[in-house]
Amino acid sequence: QELQMNLEQIEKGGYDHFMLKEIYEQPSVITDTYRGRLHANEGIIQMSGVEDNLEKFLNAERIIIVACGTSWHAGLVAEYIFEEFTRIPVEVEYASEFRYRNPIINRRDVVIAISQSGETADTMAAIKLAKEKGAFVYGVCNVVGSSISRETHAGSHTHAGPEIGVASTKAFTTQITVLIMMALRLAKAKGTLSNTDFHRYLQELEIIPDKVKEALETNAKAKEIAKVFKNSHNCLYLGRGYNFPVALEGALKLKEISYIHAEGYPAAEMKHGPIALIDEHMPVIIIAPKQGHYDKIVSNIQEIKSRSGIIIAVVTKGDTQVRGLADYIIEIPDTSDAFSPLITTIPLQLLSYHIAVMRGCNVDQPRNLAKSVTVE
Ligand code: G6P
Repeated sequence: QELQMNLEQIEKGGYDHFMLKEIYEQPSVITDTYRGRLHANEGIIQMSGVEDNLEKFLNAERIIIVACGTSWHAGLVAEYIFEEFTRIPVEVEYASEFRYRNPIINRRDVVIAISQSGETADTMAAIKLAKEKGAFVYGVCNVVGSSISRETHAGSHTHAGPEIGVASTKAFTTQITVLIMMALRLAKAKGTLSNTDFHRYLQELEIIPDKVKEALETNAKAKEIAKVFKNSHNCLYLGRGYNFPVALEGALKLKEISYIHAEGYPAAEMKHGPIALIDEHMPVIIIAPKQGHYDKIVSNIQEIKSRSGIIIAVVTKGDTQVRGLADYIIEIPDTSDAFSPLITTIPLQLLSYHIAVMRGCNVDQPRNLAKSVTVE
């Protein structure tokens, strides 16, 4: 028993929980994920799975992304990135819905299946269905040799290393890293990004791990905010554009490990329902980086404020406008709009983590949840 404890202690590398360790690993695992693939100075992205199947991607009439849970959120981020960079139409589907709704799948469709474990039953079934209909199926998996990585025609692994915490963190950011690289490589081949933009993005991606490291410095602030909101019953997460999926992911993290009811919403959709919930007891977490739809988000913040909602805003360092409106601010480093999910998601992971710890929850093994869902 004692030996077991010590072993676990060692595995946690000095952190109280696997989840926290995995949150802190993100700068290094994102680097591991792009190592050997991203050559920023040479202006090259090299991914063998994409290279070997370049024609299939270039001839794709459509990309369909299938996934579950946090991986589905990474898929939503990818939808925005792929469409912006490559101009290929993208659809993102819950694997469980896709497999049972007699979907239209053509030979010219490319299906991308995203899965940390590579064992999720619904994602696996979606892949089999897509293959039967003649689509080319590409996997983005973390676990090497997993069922999904074997079942797909080709793929790119994320190099996040083993993820033990049930709530996915580093798998999410490394999935986005792989998907960004794929989109950049295809954009280069299709000529849908200018040379200048392509090179700028490569340089930017190379320094993302440093910015993630900087974003981890929000830990103390996240803890301070967690103290205030640990007894909340509800929480709303809002974001727009690339950060809409981050709002969903932020809410999912809070639900999963702290059992607080949370909802993520595109900020503008707030008017179509959630605004009715806002009062002085409702914390609203708003992702409001400088790049993107900043002015729109500022007016969303004003709408919440005028209804007495409590605003916790994730803003770019040096922001003054939101600071004047929000009750709490969390400052993160600046990056391009498309890459911002890699940064904005960090303080949200930390916030959920601290709230769960303060509520005495089992952070690494939340009730009723499994790390991989191998039955439907
Ligand atoms: C479970 C896990 C989540 C994960 C989801 C999809 O619900 O608890 O963390 O996002 O499955 O898993 P996958 O391994 O396919 O990414």
